[in-house]
Amino acid sequence: MADYKGKVVTITGAASGLGKGMATRFAQKGARLSLADLDGENLARFAEELRAKNVEVLTTIMDVCDSDAVDSFAKESFAAFGGVDYCINNAGVHSMGSIWKIPPEEWRKVFEINVMGIVNGIRAFIPRMMAQDKECFIINTASNAGLQVNTAIAPYAMSKHAAVSVTESLAVELQAVKSKIKAFVFCPGLIPTGLSGNSERIKANTDPYYETEKFKKLYAYGAKLLVNGMPMETAMDRFFAGLEADEFYIRTHDNEEEEVRYRVQMVLEKKRPAPIAK
Ligand SMILES: NC(=O)c1ccc[n+]([C@@H]2O[C@H](COP(=O)([O-])OP(=O)(O)OC[C@H]3O[C@@H](n4cnc5c(N)ncnc54)[C@H](O)[C@@H]3O)[C@@H](O)[C@H]2O)c1
Repeated sequence: MADYKGKVVTITGAASGLGKGMATRFAQKGARLSLADLDGENLARFAEELRAKNVEVLTTIMDVCDSDAVDSFAKESFAAFGGVDYCINNAGVHSMGSIWKIPPEEWRKVFEINVMGIVNGIRAFIPRMMAQDKECFIINTASNAGLQVNTAIAPYAMSKHAAVSVTESLAVELQAVKSKIKAFVFCPGLIPTGLSGNSERIKANTDPYYETEKFKKLYAYGAKLLVNGMPMETAMDRFFAGLEADEFYIRTHDNEEEEVRYRVQMVLEKKRPAPIAK
């Protein structure tokens, strides 16, 4: 088993859900944490809980879309701890609805947060991590949605395919320069978190589409699916198992293999994808 004692871990989107779950586990294993989130209140509350358990924690309130703020987050993390061993670009939002009805503002926001948030993290952390000249790790949270054909979550799926793609490119480019940094892409399936509620803030609330019965029904269905997902503790067991086994695509849900295979099969057979019967 890997030794995390004293290791420095940075996590965005750490005030809730998977970011909080990863931070909690890393802390239990003896790591030191630099945590960032847009939600200062929940971040401060979580940091207090950790400090009460003698965990060393630095907190930063920031928006991952702001490249200067992410750069400062990296700079301050390195200054406070003298280095970074694990950089986790995890903050993200969900988006669902009919592809031709979702307002453009929501498309842009999802891309800014889920894709440019990761790009900002890569740009801020990789040069500093390279300068350390030691083995260290970058983990970008995408989703199983980034590996398969999806229905009714087009902006989210688009952003998660991009998150997978940018991390694949990163892995290749790091190896090409013989870097000691290892890249991973975390692709969880459904886990109960605050994702549904927290993503409310990206909606262009004045758009009448959000008031339609069809949208409300779909949204309620999505929230219900999330609630019935894999327990966080199991998801974290799988996350650390994948990380320690050096699995580039860290996945949590085995039953989703079929959907990954279906997409690859459609590509190879040059066929138009259809919804998978569930
Ligand atoms: N929960 C799932 O089923 C699931 C499945 C696959 C992938 N994911 C991904 O996991 C990641 C974490 O999501 P979660 O499910 O834990 O949801 P969550 O809402 O519980 O946590 C996300 C955190 O990110 C923060 N955040 C959102 N936008 C931000 C921004 N612009 N800048 C800084 N912080 C921001 C939120 O405040 C929140 O604390 C996301 O990238 C999500 O897409 C989640």
